[in-house]
Amino acid sequence: MIKKAIFPVGGLGTRFLPATKALPKEMLPVVDKPLIQYAVEEAAAAGIEEFIFVTGRNKTAIEDHFDHSVELEAALIDKGKEAALQTVQMMMQSPGSVAYVRQQAPAGLGHAVWCARHLIGDEPVAVLLADDLVKGAPALKEMVEAYDSGNMVAVMEVPREETSSYGIVTPGASHGQVVEIEGLVEKPAIEDAPSNLAVIGRYIIEPAVFDILGQQRAGVGGEIQLTDALAAQIGKQPFTGLRFSGTRFDCGSKTGFQKANLAFALERDDMAPELRRWLRDELAQS
Ligand code: UTP
Repeated sequence: MIKKAIFPVGGLGTRFLPATKALPKEMLPVVDKPLIQYAVEEAAAAGIEEFIFVTGRNKTAIEDHFDHSVELEAALIDKGKEAALQTVQMMMQSPGSVAYVRQQAPAGLGHAVWCARHLIGDEPVAVLLADDLVKGAPALKEMVEAYDSGNMVAVMEVPREETSSYGIVTPGASHGQVVEIEGLVEKPAIEDAPSNLAVIGRYIIEPAVFDILGQQRAGVGGEIQLTDALAAQIGKQPFTGLRFSGTRFDCGSKTGFQKANLAFALERDDMAPELRRWLRDELAQS
């Protein structure tokens, strides 16, 4: 039912400067794979067949990453590096299934999503933010399986004092992992947060959301917010949250990014033993 996904990658990534001056934040690697590739793999696992990237200036590395690198592949064949060759060829999607549109200025997540409107027909579409990395059960697959109609977001509980960094929902009735959403406010003051249930960067949105985004109304931070458009649909369309089962890492923050690197590395047989020993020694000394 949901065959297209939008990957907004037009942001400036200011929290990771100077690393992100010339390198897209979404290309930062967790262990040895860029954040954006984890997101694309999660989308593919959910049955997505068309991948739409909303890019900006300095983001061409993302296009190169998902294309053939003829010289590299030739060199790997030459050196007999079969496994490495498979790794770089595995990420290729079928010809014509990847599209890039450019967000000419980083006017907000809602604006980035709206920039993809001409590539979306009269159908619901998924949106994935690469800096929300989910380990374990793929969150979008759980959402697609639970999705019926209207708009859906991934939700998780966050500490009360962090509610001002998220879109926060007013939850209604729960049905298993699915919770009805009665209200949504972007980055509320902690004392105004209606709950501690936060929206994480996975969405399934109805085409009507693009019309609202097209009104170009700026919200928090002067940016066009996707959550504001979703909130405007409450009462007109069903709106649900999915409490996903995996573990989410906020790779848009430096500590979240380091935690993700450790968590993924500690699951790798080629890295875990040495890393565990080193961590034990370091922690003993601190
Ligand atoms: P963030 O809110 O993390 O912003 O965007 P950012 O610019 O990437 O990073 P900081 O806060 O300056 O460090 C969440 C996602 O939305 C995309 C980003 O690329 C990221 O994947 N985004 C954000 C856009 O595509 N366009 C925008 O105008 C804003």
